[in-house]
Amino acid sequence: MVEEAPAGPPESEVSIETLQLRIRQQEILADFGVLALKGTPFAELLDQGARLAAEGLKAEFAKVLKFMPEENRFLVCAGVGWGPGVVGHATVGADMASLGGYALKTGKPVISNHLDIEERFRTPELLVEYGIHRAMNVILQNDHSPYGVLEVDSRLEDEFVAADIVFLQGLGNILGMAIERQRMERDLRQAVERQQLLIKEVNHRVNNSLSIVASMLHLHSSVAESSDVRLELHEASSRIAAIARAHQRLYKSDRIDTLDLGAYLTEVCTDLDASMPDCEVRVVVEEGIEIRTDRAIPAILLVNELITNAAKYAYPAGDCRVWVTLTRVQRETVVISVRDEGVGLPPTFDIKSGRRLGMRLVDTFSQQLQAHLQILRKNPGTEFILALPLKAPSQDG
Ligand SMILES: Nc1ncnc2c1ncn2[C@@H]1O[C@H](COP(=O)(O)OP(=O)(O)OP(=O)(O)O)[C@@H](O)[C@H]1O
Ligand SMILES: [Mg+2]
Repeated sequence: MVEEAPAGPPESEVSIETLQLRIRQQEILADFGVLALKGTPFAELLDQGARLAAEGLKAEFAKVLKFMPEENRFLVCAGVGWGPGVVGHATVGADMASLGGYALKTGKPVISNHLDIEERFRTPELLVEYGIHRAMNVILQNDHSPYGVLEVDSRLEDEFVAADIVFLQGLGNILGMAIERQRMERDLRQAVERQQLLIKEVNHRVNNSLSIVASMLHLHSSVAESSDVRLELHEASSRIAAIARAHQRLYKSDRIDTLDLGAYLTEVCTDLDASMPDCEVRVVVEEGIEIRTDRAIPAILLVNELITNAAKYAYPAGDCRVWVTLTRVQRETVVISVRDEGVGLPPTFDIKSGRRLGMRLVDTFSQQLQAHLQILRKNPGTEFILALPLKAPSQDG
């Protein structure tokens, strides 16, 4: 126990060698602190902790003992100096009659410089087997229950002194805090993963519900008496199905908050192409354009309106073809073009004064995205060009 640790020689008689060792111990503490803060992988951190503990105390052996409360024993989970089959396998008792158990339960460092004549503690088999003469233990404390203890062992006929405890406890404190930090990071990662699963599940359910609503409207349209009502219900059903399709892609990808716009556009256009047997949709996109999901959805719904219109109006004689492209024009701006080679817009066409829903949705989504929509009358056909900022101008990061 601390009180019984030899104080070592008086200051005036401290040898150069001892002073050098104390300086080395300081360096080790500083280096280990950096290692711990850098987020070194857990197993490596434990190994380094044991290695540096042995080095700083000129001992041949050191180990990290992980407490296993169900068995009231320690597992040697990292260490130096030990032969095969010890690290990761060997266990030692953690009761109050053991050095480690005492350190763990009282929180006080323990030194035994003469294990062969030790009366306070039982010498563990492992130490007997390796001919260990002296040992020193400190607790690895964290905010919750302690992780275990850090132990240094030596066969050499020397003594651990009070100043050695300061070093070992310093190392133990850094290790304890690093273990705690890594535990918290692990918990956080798990919480984020759970959250993402939950969002995927919610997206899945939203998609199912939208599909049900679309089918209900479709059914409703088929029994409506008036042809106008039938048409309106059919259009509403198609729009909801388009939203469902856009959603479906979201919970199938790994990410939640951002997506690859090119890949998303391709998938949604491919779905649309499959749902319109009379019209071919050709897509050419640049890959690797990341956009937030909440911006991608209105952009996709806007494109959906434009493609549907081309299929409905541009080719009265059939042979419908629509070209969709996505190009990055600046670092933060992309252009989506939807083009057909059909009959062209009616002369009276005006996006702002139209009374139908489709173009009003296009206009609204475009404003919501703070994008710029250009409509080109071509010969033949029409091209809609949407200049879309990847981030909303007010959106940070
Ligand atoms: N690619 C196109 N080629 C030719 N005409 C088009 C094209 N896109 C739109 N139009 C014309 O513009 C009009 C307005 O389109 P809009 O999408 O607002 O209405 P809609 O498709 O008739 O109805 P809704 O979309 O509300 O179901 C259409 O009725 C059509 O005459
Ligand atoms: Mg329309």
